[in-house]
Amino acid sequence: MSTPTVLDQTDIDGIDFAFDNLPDVHGVLAGLRANRDYAIVPFAGVRAVLLLTHELVSAAFKDEATFPAAAIYRMTTGPVLGKTLQCMEGTEHRIARGVATPPFRRAKVADYLEPLLEPLAHELIDRFASRGSADLVAEFTTKYPVLVISRLLGLPIEDETVVHRWAHDLFYFPLDPEAALRASREFTDYVTPIVRARRAEPGDDLISRLVTESAEGEHLDDEQVLSFLRLLFPAGADTTMLALGNTLSALLTHPDQLALLASDPDEWTQWAIWEGLRWEPPVGLLPRACPEAVDWHGISIPALTPMIFSINAAHRDPAVYERPDEFDITRKKMTMLSFGQGVHSCAGNWLAIAELTTALRVLLDRLPGLRLQPDADTDAEVTSQVGTALRGPNALRVGWQR
Ligand code: HEM
Repeated sequence: MSTPTVLDQTDIDGIDFAFDNLPDVHGVLAGLRANRDYAIVPFAGVRAVLLLTHELVSAAFKDEATFPAAAIYRMTTGPVLGKTLQCMEGTEHRIARGVATPPFRRAKVADYLEPLLEPLAHELIDRFASRGSADLVAEFTTKYPVLVISRLLGLPIEDETVVHRWAHDLFYFPLDPEAALRASREFTDYVTPIVRARRAEPGDDLISRLVTESAEGEHLDDEQVLSFLRLLFPAGADTTMLALGNTLSALLTHPDQLALLASDPDEWTQWAIWEGLRWEPPVGLLPRACPEAVDWHGISIPALTPMIFSINAAHRDPAVYERPDEFDITRKKMTMLSFGQGVHSCAGNWLAIAELTTALRVLLDRLPGLRLQPDADTDAEVTSQVGTALRGPNALRVGWQR
């Protein structure tokens, strides 16, 4: 007879937390959390431990020994992106991160504003500003973060359409693995000669830095550079795209908050971004694994158990946030959990914040009186994108005064 484990019973049935579209995800998570700090839920056809409180999610992110990132990413993204930072451990991870991530540090990010972030936001808005209406998802949020990455890498502007297609196909990996693998191969074939050329003759772009910089006396080899470049699209562009969509959705469906922001953008823009990240973090549920059996915070977890860190439940934990379901930009709280914590926490969080604040400021400045079109509410609601974990609006059909 096998020994009973925490996984013997689920707390909810009829929902798969890997694949299903959960329109009322916050209601479902709050119901589970009212019962216990964690729940046993169906996940990709098996059972997973879903962590639901701010305390547990934060502790789990910091506990790389118990929940090593590599254990999950080698299985999930490894086949398509290769051995990225997320698949690395220990010294290898520290050195690769030491080489690749200094350009994204907080102090460096201000350098991107004038030459890159602001002009790019204007460039995209120029294409539709005179029309008086647009779908900001199709025409802005899906484009801006991919173009930021593409230009940071110094890729030729005439190649941006195909780069955008590769980024899109990599994002839809769980739904269309063939297209994602093809995109990964095509992007690698395309960028490999560029990497070689920058090794021979470096410029001041990100690829040149990746091939010339060192950490602890070590340089990145070609495959380490390529896997970092492949990771930048799903990790850097798609997350920021969803975050921008979610904050715009929140503002457009809460006109009082949008009016407050518009009344004093200098004061409120950054707080609108942080509150958007709290209210609807783009990475709502983050899968991990627990390779070894462990007693962890009173939960007896068997070996090889899938784990889910619910960032979105942590962000609405009533023990930490008053009126957690309200979108309120006057909270003035930096919700860093959106970006993970511990050794694998987001390497691009300050770039993301700079992109989001710049985009929001320029959009509100260029499109005065921004509002949802009368029949656009349902499309604008944040919902599951590509499985349950990633969340964003399907469309943001808006109008403004010309
Ligand atoms: C709002 C936008 C973003 C969000 C919500 C976000 C979220 C996250 C999260 C939650 C993780 C941790 C994953 C884990 O622990 O398994 C992560 C890792 C990472 N992010 Fe971001 N991210 C954003 C933007 C960016 C940008 C703009 C870049 C780069 C330019 C970036 C690069 C990375 C990288 C390289 C990692 C892996 C770090 C490592 O494993 O050491 N992210 N991100």
